Amino acid sequence: MNEQFAQDVLRGLTAKNKYLSSKYFYDDNGSRIFQEIMHMPEYYLTNSEFEILSLQAKQIVDAIQFQQPFNIIELGAGDGFKTFKLLEYLVNNKIDFHYVPIDISQEAIETLSSKLLARLPNLSIQAKVGDYFEMLKDLKQSSTPSLLLFLGSNIGNYEEEQARELLMLFHQNMKKGDKLLIGIDLKKNPLTIQKAYLDDAGITKKFNLNLLLRINRELDADFKIDDFDFYSYYNPDTGDVKSYIVSLRNQKVHIGKLNKTIVFSYDELIWTELSKKYSLDDIDHLARENGFEIQENFLDCKHYFVDSLWEKTA
Ligand code: AVI
Repeated sequence: MNEQFAQDVLRGLTAKNKYLSSKYFYDDNGSRIFQEIMHMPEYYLTNSEFEILSLQAKQIVDAIQFQQPFNIIELGAGDGFKTFKLLEYLVNNKIDFHYVPIDISQEAIETLSSKLLARLPNLSIQAKVGDYFEMLKDLKQSSTPSLLLFLGSNIGNYEEEQARELLMLFHQNMKKGDKLLIGIDLKKNPLTIQKAYLDDAGITKKFNLNLLLRINRELDADFKIDDFDFYSYYNPDTGDVKSYIVSLRNQKVHIGKLNKTIVFSYDELIWTELSKKYSLDDIDHLARENGFEIQENFLDCKHYFVDSLWEKTA
């Protein structure tokens, strides 16, 4: 049993306002559903970032200005679809670099490696499975310049304090002159954002409810997922998208491995995810307060999304 998962589920489901961490969405099944989300027309984030990395690969590589060879370390690589165009540009231009994608899903990382090598046989790649907090520690030891990729608006899934801690951790493990290309979803028309998270086909609902199935499977629980629904809303004042699982009945769920019965009342919520949206000013602030300097912002044509290139200057 994954002890940390068990403890976090216990803490979250016994809290006054119940919550579960979205980091547990990504078992192999959840990672597969997330691929479906990324292909939904409403989920504009993926296409926007894909456009940036496809159409502006040259500008991004020019802005990095590294001596060769260098490392590209991608945190939370997933299936690597969006990164492909950047890698393709580098390989086609015979730029000397080594690519290290890191993800917590074994299946996602295996799919990524085989897909990339099939299309870019000359790519130097060493995929790693695991928690990127651990993997980052190797970074400072290498004397090769490194570009960290933290794409897909993954930063949006961290609350303010956690986001700061994560960026501080990146900063501590980077060498002076190393760069971070961070993908961030921008504040925009609230309806566009709302639709990306409350899709008509119910794929995001399936993504959330998969967490209950995971608890059933891994912690021997008896959630009946038809007795739960999903809700999500965007608050344009704060930039927060908050997602919830909703209990449709008064009900009890037994979690065998925790030896615990959890009581849910009618309409009770479990908060599952924050997907924070930023303005360019917010991003400027975020970079500065964590010891980075923004070198350049790369936006898509609709200005929905930014890949922001930061440098560790001190
Ligand atoms: C991975 N992360 C940036 C996604 C997001 O947009 O917050 C996860 C997601 N949740 C619902 N749809 C997509």
